[in-house]
Amino acid sequence: DTYCVIMAGGVGSRFWPLSKSSTPKQFLDILGTGKSLLRQTFDRFTPLCPKENFLIVTSAEYADQVLEQLPELQAEQVLKEPFRRNTAPCIAYANAWIRTRNKNANIVVTPADHLIINETAFIQSIEDGLQFVRDNDALLTLGIKPHRPETGYGYIQIGNQAADKYPGFNKVKTFTEKPNAELAKVFFESGEFFWNSGIFIWTLGAIDTAFQSKLPEVQNLFLKLDKEIGTTNEEKALNNTYIDCKNISIDYGVMEKADNVYVQTVSFGWSDLGTWTSLYEYSAQDKASNAIISGKVLLYDTEQSVVNIPGDKVAIIQGLKDYIVVDSGDALLICPKTNEQQIRQFTTDIKAEF
Ligand code: GDD
Ligand code: MG
Repeated sequence: DTYCVIMAGGVGSRFWPLSKSSTPKQFLDILGTGKSLLRQTFDRFTPLCPKENFLIVTSAEYADQVLEQLPELQAEQVLKEPFRRNTAPCIAYANAWIRTRNKNANIVVTPADHLIINETAFIQSIEDGLQFVRDNDALLTLGIKPHRPETGYGYIQIGNQAADKYPGFNKVKTFTEKPNAELAKVFFESGEFFWNSGIFIWTLGAIDTAFQSKLPEVQNLFLKLDKEIGTTNEEKALNNTYIDCKNISIDYGVMEKADNVYVQTVSFGWSDLGTWTSLYEYSAQDKASNAIISGKVLLYDTEQSVVNIPGDKVAIIQGLKDYIVVDSGDALLICPKTNEQQIRQFTTDIKAEF
């Protein structure tokens, strides 16, 4: 059986001030389609996986928002994390839940907040990927051809093709999570590297083996949880598991180090919508390459900027180039696009200051 695990516990801090810790971007209709990013993700995967095999892993505080947006799910399909410990524990928790039901499961793990342009090609890629992991008991990630030296992604250097019957599937030679700017430039210019999309496909057996070998302390905590799942003791046991668990992403914890990792190179049109620039790239732009996401805005001598002003507020902007201007009603951000990775830090600073 195929299970679909949607990771929806991030805070989307680089999308501040629209994305806030009370309502992070996965719950917002960032693209103006009438659906939140989470709802879009769920709908995208429904042809691949029966409704009862979806799991949404998120912070306990967001569980109600998830059920409101996905009313067809049972409450038990929303896995509530007591603390944020990044994506490795999130995946380990989903694995524990799946182990209690189906030891032969095939699993697709996906972020809740990506933009996919060609949904038909996407479904085909996931189906091919599922076939590959079933045949090879491997860990698979979907790789995207980079078009800029982005530092917010994982970079994959591809090795040999898996086998003749798997065109587009290669062994991963190296996996480097979030390189510095210098290294990202080298990777990008070499043409040998792909971005890690953050969409993973594996068998339960393969990911369990990888956790046991690369993150045994995390794996052992969650193995102990297996017998508590579905019992009245689950919440308490979960709390203890998360208290003891370290904070680490699946990329640093497993993907950089595991041996049987493969990459399937895909081209269905992808953006992680991680930052204002990534939204800008996929938005309609005027003659001076400005994207007005929303708002009554007049621009003069302004180029290549992205502007989002809510409601009825009227704004005039003059003389900006390559800027982000976002007003969320109670907060205002003005920041050069080149510095957008720092927005995460700004949100921490502003909490400390006010
Ligand atoms: N449940 C849960 N708990 N979900 C989480 C947590 C957590 O503690 N932390 C993050 N997530 C969710 C986010 O909501 C998002 O959907 C997904 O996991 C990925 O987390 P991000 O924080 O957005 O990761 P990233 O963008 O910095 O990096 C990852 O994605 C890139 C592509 O978008 C990595 O996999 C990179 O290698 C990759 O290139
Ligand atoms: Mg992301």
